[in-house]
Amino acid sequence: MALNLRTLHPLYGVEVVGVDVAKPVGDTVFAEIRAALDERSLLLFRGLDMTDERQIAFSERFGPLLRATSNNPGGGTPFSRQSNLDVKSGAFIPAGDKRMRYQKANEQFHSDGSYRVVPALCSLLSGRVVPPEGGATEITTMRGAWDALPEAKRRPLEGLVAVHNLYHSRSLVDPTVMNEVQKNETPPVRQAVVRSNPVNGRKTLFIGAHASHIVGWPVEEGRALLNELMAFCAQPQFVYRHEWREGDLLVYDNRCLLHRATPYDIARYKRVLQRTTVSDSGPTAPQE
Ligand code: OGA
Ligand code: MN
Repeated sequence: MALNLRTLHPLYGVEVVGVDVAKPVGDTVFAEIRAALDERSLLLFRGLDMTDERQIAFSERFGPLLRATSNNPGGGTPFSRQSNLDVKSGAFIPAGDKRMRYQKANEQFHSDGSYRVVPALCSLLSGRVVPPEGGATEITTMRGAWDALPEAKRRPLEGLVAVHNLYHSRSLVDPTVMNEVQKNETPPVRQAVVRSNPVNGRKTLFIGAHASHIVGWPVEEGRALLNELMAFCAQPQFVYRHEWREGDLLVYDNRCLLHRATPYDIARYKRVLQRTTVSDSGPTAPQE
């Protein structure tokens, strides 16, 4: 059997039509889904009757799940919750609340978990309650950006290592959203700036909002390079904008894509996205 795929963007991304991943998926079909992730980076499933339990069952097919950091309402569980509703009461969370200020940083292009020694393979983001307007998720392809970089720009990047730190991306938006205990929970780590897919060898940049500087370079110079590469990746020809419908599930490859949240009227519309994150199998660079 071959999956029925509908292209989302000329460079990457497919909607997988006719597979209900909220129900148990057979091994043959799952192998095709897993292969599509390596090739197409972004998978969309629609019309799912998704629950936390079903999401965990499907997510675990990709590998072991990472646990959310204590900054998130889902801290310590496999779920990172992106929402303007209080978990217990369901009431709107006020704009000034730390939980909303913390989520603001997601509006910068990032790769989930790149601040971990072993970063994420992929994330599964499930639209449970979505606003009628706004709150789209934008995605961009670092692999496509790498392919488009002139050879002379690519060569000096090979072998570079970047320092990634969750607090870096948070501090750019609001330095008060993490306390000392939380900062210590996620110390800075090192990631290769260029990596390749182990199955098909496709190379990609690996950067994002958590990347703060380049190992062995003056901080400002490294930051300038990272900013330049981020601007390159954010060009419109690489971006797919996902307007959410309830029952959507996005599976995105954190090894070669970046994503960002976009604003919505948080005092008026409800939004609940549940994210599970699958660990990759090893680090991308030596740590010291
Ligand atoms: C995430 C994330 C984007 C969004 O869940 O990791 O970045 O649109 N979400 O909420
Ligand atoms: Mn994210």
